[in-house]
Amino acid sequence: MNTDPVETLRWREGAIEMIDQRLLPARFVYVACHSALDVAAAIRDMVIRGAPAIGCAAAYGIGVEALRLGHQGEMPFARGMDAAFEVLAASRPTAVNLSWALARMKRVMQACASRHPQDVADLLIASAHEIRAEDIRVNRTLGAHGALLLADGARVLTHCNAGALAAAGHGTALGVIRSAIEAGKRISVIANETRPFLQGARLTAWELRESNIPVTLITDGMSGHLMARGSIDAVIVGADRVAANGDVANKIGTYMVATMARRHGIPFYVACPSSTIDMSTRSGADIPIEERSPHEVTGYGDTRWAPDDIEVFNPAFDVTPAELVSALITEKGVIHAPDPTQLKATFQS
Ligand code: MRU
Repeated sequence: MNTDPVETLRWREGAIEMIDQRLLPARFVYVACHSALDVAAAIRDMVIRGAPAIGCAAAYGIGVEALRLGHQGEMPFARGMDAAFEVLAASRPTAVNLSWALARMKRVMQACASRHPQDVADLLIASAHEIRAEDIRVNRTLGAHGALLLADGARVLTHCNAGALAAAGHGTALGVIRSAIEAGKRISVIANETRPFLQGARLTAWELRESNIPVTLITDGMSGHLMARGSIDAVIVGADRVAANGDVANKIGTYMVATMARRHGIPFYVACPSSTIDMSTRSGADIPIEERSPHEVTGYGDTRWAPDDIEVFNPAFDVTPAELVSALITEKGVIHAPDPTQLKATFQS
């Protein structure tokens, strides 16, 4: 059984199209991006979001820009491509998959620097396709590893959306759940709504419903109550960046969930591809935490619920210390109680 609901990104007639995730679940619309600027804006404005999906989008941003500039001479092409790398790198700071994908695209460019710009463009588009296909393969592999950790009948809490919508397909945290279900286990999901951008209420709830996976939506403050009552067997989340010591940056609120899970003896799992592991960042304290617009906290869409002149702080991510992580699930296998030594042995190239 294939439980994947959607194509988060798709290639159509020289453009990269992405589901506009700001509109879900009310509307299902693809947005076409024809340039690096289009893609950078789509990442910044949350048309596309989720660490692996951001990485794929950035790779296509380089590809479409190369196609756009491919008819120019070598010098203007090189200058335009430098600007494309810069604008994409600056689009969002926390998910390391963005710089991972850009570094990979840069290596491809450097390896074919002597070729005609149009040939370079073709090679860059092919690399973006490969990054996208690889992401789905990797998620399926890590999903299979993680599925072994879930018992038949498990009730699994997740936070934010680490699903097919947050990747090229299948998902990371939700990929583990999909794989467990595909293996015949009965799994139900409790989804935190995930204030302020509501990725849980809007995206996880929608994505799981589309796949006929049982899901119950709760507000973020309710998960401790459910844990205390014995209604949650495991927690699985994704990650935007894992530091070399195993600290995990993920959607704001994850740290509270991990702390409560430890208090109640519930395993707290983090599922991510190895492109999310950043061995050059020593600890969570060194991970840049994005701060987003106050408008995300004071209201949503056209609705405003806070007073006009209120002071707002809106960090989009927090850091869960490695000591609260029961296991890190990647395509390379499951690392129980991750620590710097295990991470170095597995991910240092
Ligand atoms: O701000 P977002 O929606 O991009 O944040 C997404 C998350 O925090 C996800 O949990 C993370 O990127 C993992 S996605 C597989």
